[in-house]
Amino acid sequence: MSMNRRTVLTGMLAAGAGALVRAPRALSDTVPSSRTLSIPPLDNGRMEAGTRVFDLSLQAGNTEFFSGRPTPTIGVNGSFLGPTVRVRAGDAIGMRVTNALDIASTLHWHGLHVPAQADGGPHQVIAPGATWSPSFQIRQKAGLFWYHAHMMHRTGAQVNAGLAGLILVEDDEAASLGLPNEYGVDDIPLVIQDRRFRADGRFDYMSAMPDLMMGFKGDVILVNGTVAPELMLRRRRTRLRLLNGSNSRIYNIARSDGRSVHQIASDGSLLTRAVERRAVRLGPGERAEILIDVEPDSRLALISLPDDAGGRGPGMMGMMGGGGNDERFQILALRAGRLEGSETRLPARLIEVPSWEVRKAERTRTFVLGMGMMGGMMGGMGMGMRGGMGGMAMTINGKSMDMARIDEKVPLGATEIWEIRNATPLSHPFHIHDIQFRVLDRDSVPAGPHEHGLKDTVMVDPGETVRVITQFTDFADPNRPYMYHCHILEHEDAGMMGQFVVV
Ligand code: C2O
Ligand code: CU
Ligand code: CU
Repeated sequence: MSMNRRTVLTGMLAAGAGALVRAPRALSDTVPSSRTLSIPPLDNGRMEAGTRVFDLSLQAGNTEFFSGRPTPTIGVNGSFLGPTVRVRAGDAIGMRVTNALDIASTLHWHGLHVPAQADGGPHQVIAPGATWSPSFQIRQKAGLFWYHAHMMHRTGAQVNAGLAGLILVEDDEAASLGLPNEYGVDDIPLVIQDRRFRADGRFDYMSAMPDLMMGFKGDVILVNGTVAPELMLRRRRTRLRLLNGSNSRIYNIARSDGRSVHQIASDGSLLTRAVERRAVRLGPGERAEILIDVEPDSRLALISLPDDAGGRGPGMMGMMGGGGNDERFQILALRAGRLEGSETRLPARLIEVPSWEVRKAERTRTFVLGMGMMGGMMGGMGMGMRGGMGGMAMTINGKSMDMARIDEKVPLGATEIWEIRNATPLSHPFHIHDIQFRVLDRDSVPAGPHEHGLKDTVMVDPGETVRVITQFTDFADPNRPYMYHCHILEHEDAGMMGQFVVV
């Protein structure tokens, strides 16, 4: 993008900034948190002739985030969000997804390595009243994954309404490490989201133009659907499994007392070794697992620190909360009373993480992320574009998503480098279906130790070029594509998405 184009776009974004940057209300460290954090119920499925079967029903309901003010929501086997689906590596899985809504939807298994026809992307639409029954095997490292709606042009709205939940994959290697793993006790899943509410209790979604450009941001933080949540810690060491399940907000997660945490996992696996960190930055769709150690009778909080888009935001981006937030706010209050002791030693090495050698890569594919006005005032890289009626075009390599167009054909078995270039003034979390990758470098600087794990979503900051490497080992299907896209759901819905087939 030329400097001129960027300046115009930045100015346009700034014009909308006032409307859009709201400090999360539930947020300052002084607001007393009062609600017990809800923990999504565990669902181990049921065994049917050697297959682990899960019955998942997409359903409408009401959820009282604020008492006396029910919010119309949708969820899975409940009114908002869904159960934590727990599986083991190697399991044969049968999903029975019933759409009890009066709108069409899909359910995508974010991060799972499954055949394209079982992926739950925009081509696997489940009509109202229908049941979709994909089956697949769990071929993953242990880690935290998630499921969510992926309906073309509707993903943002449906996820905002509640169509998401967690998938916990376990394996022997991870279980042998002695890490905290008692679900809901010392192994706590945290789905972090932000929402906006109207006075009558309804969600307020996409009511302003900046919601599209910048991505939708809410001013109330929910964790597992709980407003102003508090968690009672039971052990000296607790494992927190973090999912940024927000539509567009980026978090920079830290302890309120300034102590560091140990990061032990990225999106799709444990790290090679634990990494001590002051803060863990998570874009939408990304996951991380951290260990926090506390003393008896202490109070602290998980907070989000200001985020400066990796230091790359043009000056004004910091105040816009799009590429970055300048806000510091609370996510989860933590309280410890008497604590049972637990292991505080950490194994030096965690696991062996699959990696691929650059010199074995058969090719590099380049993906340029662009956004601009329709009609040529600003083109993503000056190429032809199509887009919604809103006047903004969100593009990858100058093209907005077209379900009838295959953008890339990847030969089965190929090892490839995907190079993502951000030609916009906002940060974008780039996500690839089907595979897990390793992050190679950012503007030629090798990925840090906190990225030495498998990932499926990677932050690409303004002006930055990020290279990832992976191998497309299975599931050739010339007719059914996988998606790659920005995981800011409003950008995805507006066209910052493309399709690849493995052939
Ligand atoms: Cu989390 Cu294509 O999605
Ligand atoms: Cu996905
Ligand atoms: Cu984006």
